[in-house]
Amino acid sequence: MTMRRFPEGFLWGSATASHQVEGDNQGNDWWAAEQAGRVPHRSGQACDQLNRYSEDFALFAELGQNAHRFSLEWSRIEPTPGSFDPQAIAHYRRVIETARSNGLEPLVTLHHFTNPRWLAEGGGWLHREAISRFERFAREMARAYRGLVRYWITINEPGVYASQGWVVGVWPPNRPNDIPGALRVLRQMALAHGRAYHAIHAEDPDARVGVAHHWRIFDPADPRRRGDRLIAAVRNRLMNQAFPVAIRRGRLIPPLGNARVIPWLANTEDWVGLNYYTRERDRFDPRLPHRLFGREMFADVERNHLRWEIYPEGLYRALLAIAPPGSGAEVIVTENGVPEPDDQDRVRPTYLVRHLEACHRAIEAGVRLRGYCYWSSLDNFEWAEGFEPRFGLVYVDYTTQTRTPKPSAYLYRDIIRRNGLTPTPRRAPEAG
Ligand code: FCB
Repeated sequence: MTMRRFPEGFLWGSATASHQVEGDNQGNDWWAAEQAGRVPHRSGQACDQLNRYSEDFALFAELGQNAHRFSLEWSRIEPTPGSFDPQAIAHYRRVIETARSNGLEPLVTLHHFTNPRWLAEGGGWLHREAISRFERFAREMARAYRGLVRYWITINEPGVYASQGWVVGVWPPNRPNDIPGALRVLRQMALAHGRAYHAIHAEDPDARVGVAHHWRIFDPADPRRRGDRLIAAVRNRLMNQAFPVAIRRGRLIPPLGNARVIPWLANTEDWVGLNYYTRERDRFDPRLPHRLFGREMFADVERNHLRWEIYPEGLYRALLAIAPPGSGAEVIVTENGVPEPDDQDRVRPTYLVRHLEACHRAIEAGVRLRGYCYWSSLDNFEWAEGFEPRFGLVYVDYTTQTRTPKPSAYLYRDIIRRNGLTPTPRRAPEAG
């Protein structure tokens, strides 16, 4: 087999989010939930990236990367409603400029799960005003960083946010089994995205605005059972499709809305962000109405440290589904990665290569894939799972804040240098 090359100018990066890496994020709802014991772990100093971004970005550049995805912490920038902190804005300007000076194209997320406390305490995403509050924040950011940021991500994984907060209930605002709440949040986020899209473009016509969609493959546990097929299809529609349909066609499809077309919401996506991790196999179960009559079956398959199935073919399927050949949609993988315990890096090298093979096959099939960001640049605070699952390409010793690249970071560097995959590059090379 010959070398499998990626397109010229391909973005090779890695991703983080503010609350997971910065440390000391006292102004947001996650911090409040951590202090109150409503979530099991505390983020504390996390990776102290608030103070260490400069060294970290230099390291990512040394590791060959040419792009970096990160988020702006809304609670730092707008600590009280409507008043923007010039120091926080200046801080993130330095962060963005530092990414650029290291040759890293910034992909900047505006909302990655955390909210300013004032927003959460004032009804959060259920409140009508959440839409205009987010729009105001997006406008300020586009104005502040006009010309410095090309790729904006308005919202990270709206479906995951809604389901973890309102269905499963393990994330703030901790409202288990509140399905109407989850649907309202999704609808509000779609509208907020649409408003933010126009606000950003009004400030910076060159900006390219997208969403980081979580896409999970839902397959029936037993394809011969009608109930299983049905439940997998329902979940696919709700978790994968509802949001992209809303912002592309401007239609809030049931159960998000009445399918009426909202003209200003249509075509509010300049590029598609895809976060892909796993597949779920679903079994119909009438005893579980609050779980949408289904549950996940744990077949005997390869699983990661958090028990998610490792299924590279799913990335190929997700790319074809979310940015079909011929649709014109440009897509960037905004997250894809695997956790391991301690400083292990046994699964990651193969994981990385197999998922990049899936990306390459998707390109050959006609998908306009423009970049790939591994999750995550470095080990960090994994929400309700705490610091134990480590997704990083770089190991973090949290007592000393020392960074040590794992073998897969060098494997990734070599792939980036070649801008492609050699026939069997599965083993990680030595450091250097
Ligand atoms: C995604 C999140 C990201 C990280 C990974 C493992 O759902 O966007 O913050 O937690 O999962």
